[in-house]
Amino acid sequence: GMVVAVVPAAGAGTRLGGERPKQFLPLAGRPLLTRTLMVLEATPQVQAVVVVCPPGAEDETWRACVEPYGLAKVAAVVPGGAQRQDSVAAGVARAARLGAEWLVVHDAARPLARPELFARVLAAAAQTGAAIAAVPAADTIKQAGEGDLAQSTLDRSQLWLVQTPQVFRRDLLERALAQATADGFYATDEAGLVERMGEKVKLVMGSRDNLKITTPEDLALAQGIMGPAMR
Ligand code: C5P
Repeated sequence: GMVVAVVPAAGAGTRLGGERPKQFLPLAGRPLLTRTLMVLEATPQVQAVVVVCPPGAEDETWRACVEPYGLAKVAAVVPGGAQRQDSVAAGVARAARLGAEWLVVHDAARPLARPELFARVLAAAAQTGAAIAAVPAADTIKQAGEGDLAQSTLDRSQLWLVQTPQVFRRDLLERALAQATADGFYATDEAGLVERMGEKVKLVMGSRDNLKITTPEDLALAQGIMGPAMR
């Protein structure tokens, strides 16, 4: 079936401290969003890409991040919404019109995911209907209470840190998004919506260098991981 990637890039990116949304900030000389789209371009299983940008930034996104770089798979740049989930829903609606049977949701802010990770998550999703990249927690994770006092310590052996790509059979994600909207439920990842319907989501070993670029330090870290050859 046809595989379409939905790339949410409609966040304000305010934690990165720039005046421009973070997807336009340069990473190794190209916009962060472009770096992420280049990975999808190099992933043979992905046939088309829908980019979701801040409302009103469609033309700028196309001109700054897509057009100059020969990204032939980018089929559309569509406006997102107030919450990540709204942005993903907008991208999913466009991907459905392209004929998608499988949806690959991948953060614009994760330019270091590799094509082989996309291949493994897609292969796992083919078995279960949904699969996501994640890594076992290396640090101990505590729940904090008032005044930043440690309240409890979670059992690390059961904890995974969730990344993207997240892959879903199209009808499954559409149902999960519709149900969440109807219930006024918001999650920080799409798999959370699928889980709450009682559906299986397979965790696939991601990579610790598949950073989500959130703060200025992350940009520097990503440059370092990409190596001198790419700087
Ligand atoms: O805010 P956070 O870092 O969790 O965002 C993850 C991804 O979701 C980013 O690529 C961001 O651009 C996107 N996003 C979006 N629409 C929003 C909020 C976030 O597309 N309203």
